[in-house]
Amino acid sequence: MSLTFDGRVVLVTGAGGGLGREYALAFGERGAAVIVNDLGGDIKGGGKSSAAADRVVEEIKAKGGKAVANYDSVEDGEKLIQTALDAFGRIDIVINNAGILRDRSFGRTSDLDWDLIHRVHLRGSFLVTRAAWNHMKNQKFGRIIMTSSAAGIYGNFGQANYSAAKLGALGLSNTLAIEGQKYNIHCNTIAPTAGSRLTQTVMPPDLLESLKAEYVAPLVLWLCHEDCQENGSLFEVGAGWIGKLRWERSLGRIVRQKNLSMTPEAVRDTWDEICDFTDAGKPSSIQESLQTLVDVLSRVDTEDGIKANPTSTAVRINPSDAVGRSLSEMSFTYTHMNTILYALGVGMSTKDPDHLKFLFEGHEDFSCLPTFGVIPAQGSMMGLGSVPGLDIDFTRLLHGEQYLELFKPLPTSGTLTSKTTVADVLDKGSGMIILLDVHTYSGQDLVCYNQFSVFIVGAGGFGGKRTSERAVATAPPPNRPPDAVTVDKTSKDQAALYRLSGDWNPLHIDPSFAAMGGFKAPILHGLCSFGFATRHVLKQYAENDVSRFKSIKVRFVKPVYPGQSLQTEMWKEGNRIHIQCKVKETGGVVLSGAYIDLHAGSSVSRGPPEKEELQSDLVFAEIERRIKDVGGELVKKVNAVFGWEITKDGETVRQWTMDLKSGRGDLHREAYKGKTDVTFTVPDEIFMEVVKGKLNPQKAFFAGKLKIRGNIMLSQKLEMILKDYAKL
Ligand code: NAI
Repeated sequence: MSLTFDGRVVLVTGAGGGLGREYALAFGERGAAVIVNDLGGDIKGGGKSSAAADRVVEEIKAKGGKAVANYDSVEDGEKLIQTALDAFGRIDIVINNAGILRDRSFGRTSDLDWDLIHRVHLRGSFLVTRAAWNHMKNQKFGRIIMTSSAAGIYGNFGQANYSAAKLGALGLSNTLAIEGQKYNIHCNTIAPTAGSRLTQTVMPPDLLESLKAEYVAPLVLWLCHEDCQENGSLFEVGAGWIGKLRWERSLGRIVRQKNLSMTPEAVRDTWDEICDFTDAGKPSSIQESLQTLVDVLSRVDTEDGIKANPTSTAVRINPSDAVGRSLSEMSFTYTHMNTILYALGVGMSTKDPDHLKFLFEGHEDFSCLPTFGVIPAQGSMMGLGSVPGLDIDFTRLLHGEQYLELFKPLPTSGTLTSKTTVADVLDKGSGMIILLDVHTYSGQDLVCYNQFSVFIVGAGGFGGKRTSERAVATAPPPNRPPDAVTVDKTSKDQAALYRLSGDWNPLHIDPSFAAMGGFKAPILHGLCSFGFATRHVLKQYAENDVSRFKSIKVRFVKPVYPGQSLQTEMWKEGNRIHIQCKVKETGGVVLSGAYIDLHAGSSVSRGPPEKEELQSDLVFAEIERRIKDVGGELVKKVNAVFGWEITKDGETVRQWTMDLKSGRGDLHREAYKGKTDVTFTVPDEIFMEVVKGKLNPQKAFFAGKLKIRGNIMLSQKLEMILKDYAKL
């Protein structure tokens, strides 16, 4: 789905040239109404002209876009926003981009050099954004971009004034992100690099030419789109590359001893450790930063000396502190491509006609497999890296268990947002278990709930609790042979295909990476076997009807190698189907303690048959005669139960069962008590058209006039039996 900005009003400051012009054009092209602000001065902040802004407005209009010019300085922030309100009645997006340069080595920097740079870059961004703020708050939507610079992040000779102002913009952005969050106002900062008049004095012409401003605009557009949940982040962008920055902090070292004064000598003597980035943390909030200090205070208080206070544990916090923490919200946009790719990834194939509804977006009953519900949520496991209190070694992470519950069938395309909380952290001695609860929404509607149980080998022993009432439990299967078994061979490329649904762990594709983990080859994703098992159950007990799926719980026990066969054993206990999945070739259990809960099937009888005679009744009378004639011979060959639902005006008015199983050979004018092998739903008149040879049954099927549930292959056997009525 392409990103559009219809109905959105965007202010781009300094949009008369360079990067700003590029943003303004890009927004204009994608439906936004644009306020093109530019003072039209020279590079050092002198002079004034309306020409620059006017040119860009004309360019946008020439392409059919909406735009107005504003010639005020960003120091008149209110006036810029007023232009937006006067012209378009609202303001949704502010791009703080206007800028000048007054480069001087530090010793020669005058007051004016300092002040002018700060007035335009930092104070200008403040004034413009503040003027827009309350409008954004009231409408509960706003997207703001601050423009920083590599000179601010890293420093640059001769740009002390500019560096300070540019990093000031980042500080402003960090706080706006926090204050704006609850009003859906997001603020992010970019540090762009592009050829423009600001860079022409510092870069060679060739490089200048190739660093196009149009390579920066797409990031700005995405960050400003309503689908983008990014907030409070910093990006470097240029030449078609985008990278995200964050802080890294060494574990540090406590240099103070209880009841002793802190000395510069202690700092000197521990300097290497203070500056050692081994196992560095990545604090992302002031709370995390303060937490470290609180922890240090208690440690200094309870311990008595530098030596007894080793660095590696000095600032580590208890994993139990992570309980209740929320991870950043994740947004996931998908189309039918993703759901089809997923279906292929879990072994759906066009070889099986009843898989078509998961593989063909034009199918009238096109559906998304229920287990696709893990896909929008799976990023939560990687998000664990940012949770304070957890110091996760991702090479030791195992996906232990999974629970998924759907509250409605998943849409076949759309945007879903997922909210993750750390539900609990358990100490299992040999490792730590983290329970992650992920709630996934479509708009305001809760679509599904996942619980990921993540096991971190070797991270136990921190004195936490061993069990949790928040964990969704597994359940052993009944003590009897399974009621049904499905065997399905995975393909050699199963993992290569499945990973395209968003699990890029090299363990599933790279032989040398797998070897490091002690596996003889890349292994299949546990969630892929999970998908296989679910579709086996859906087919066996729910006629592939996704609306019957309620929930699934599994424990991942052993890996599967792509190419091995999965054997799903099923036990039906009411609406609960217990499952156990094995590798057929080795007998090794892959999924244990697993079950799927189904919603009760619609056993609603569709009302008594009407008295009215149907055209098809005559045909069925003929079929009945025929079955009697051909006798047991055919029954042996076919061995299946066929059902028909004949409809009129969309209502089922007659049901027929042709029971050709286990030596029986009957036709009944009623629905079958058990499960038919295949059921045809067809309007009376279409049935007659097919019978009379006027309508090809395949065409009727693909046109949605004839519906088939169950094993569609059996319809061919039907042709064999009925001869004259071959088209059925
Ligand atoms: P540019 O000089 O082409 O564009 C800046 C525009 O801002 C000009 O059209 C100018 O007239 C306008 N402007 C200046 N003062 C103004 C004021 N008081 N009110 C309204 N408009 C004003 O420069 P460029 O390169 O497109 O820079 C855009 C932003 O990106 C600036 O904030 C700059 O500091 C930043 N930046 C650019 C880099 C690059 O490689 N081009 C590197 C790092 C940051």
